[in-house]
Amino acid sequence: MTSGIDGRSARGYAGPRVRGRVPTASEYRAEVLVGTLFVLTIVAGFALLVVYLVGGDTQVQGVLLTLAFGGLGAGIVVWAQRLLPTRLAIEERHPIAPALTAEASEVAAATREAEAGFTRRHLLIGLLFGAVAGLGAALLMPVLSLGPAPGRDLFVTAWKKGSRVVGLDGKPVQASQLPIDGVLTVFPEGAVGDAMAQTLLIRVPPDLLRLPPDRMAWAPDGYVAYSKVCTHAGCPVGLYRAIQHRLICPCHQSTFDVLDGAQPSFGPAARALPQLPIRLLPDGTFVALGDFPEPVGPSFWNMTSGDGA
Ligand code: FES
Repeated sequence: MTSGIDGRSARGYAGPRVRGRVPTASEYRAEVLVGTLFVLTIVAGFALLVVYLVGGDTQVQGVLLTLAFGGLGAGIVVWAQRLLPTRLAIEERHPIAPALTAEASEVAAATREAEAGFTRRHLLIGLLFGAVAGLGAALLMPVLSLGPAPGRDLFVTAWKKGSRVVGLDGKPVQASQLPIDGVLTVFPEGAVGDAMAQTLLIRVPPDLLRLPPDRMAWAPDGYVAYSKVCTHAGCPVGLYRAIQHRLICPCHQSTFDVLDGAQPSFGPAARALPQLPIRLLPDGTFVALGDFPEPVGPSFWNMTSGDGA
């Protein structure tokens, strides 16, 4: 006793209808459409990766990404709406005939048709996996764009113990160059122009300084050095209001108190500009006693406001 999945009795058995019957013209068109959309996704996905690897073009990459996602999404929707069966299918067992009866012949023919249909569905499934792989290739782009890991780079600058303090001309800065309330941009010798090492050397009346006791020795004779990289978003802190002893960042007006360890007193910056430990040599030049004690510049994932390194 056999009944077809579309509700026919055993005598009306029509083979494994869902997976195997010969598709209608509409289903065939749907299969071709789904296959085409998946192929579009595969081609667009890998083309996107190639375009990225040869230099990239934002507009082309945008179009290809749209095609990759759109092809996969549209293919799945068409497949679900036009090819997946929506009926309940029950197939009962039928007796095994010793010889090939007319009914068995009909079953065999239906099975052959089924295998043909099943092959097409296999092809579509293969294309679906191919489309997912194409999309995966496209999604490699953000991973490739991450670049190398920063390592310790965020924690260190070019300043080292013994680095001579030089000006933009690469020559050692003389203490006599700076009058009271004067300011100079300085670098470690051999790293002039280094963005992370740029430092402001400021001279203030020594008796006004309110530095922590262990840092007073880092400001000999009122010469105090702070990182020039704003702790908010990394702009160079380029303005010094001498009358108030305040450094001001031009980007978002963060204001730092030079006398109080460059603590922020206004604006979005949440931590002080790191102070560079320096020493005044007998010849009137300066050397660093080491690197900044904290990372310079904006806070990051494991360096938040007010934290040390
Ligand atoms: S970068 Fe300095 S205040 Fe924003």
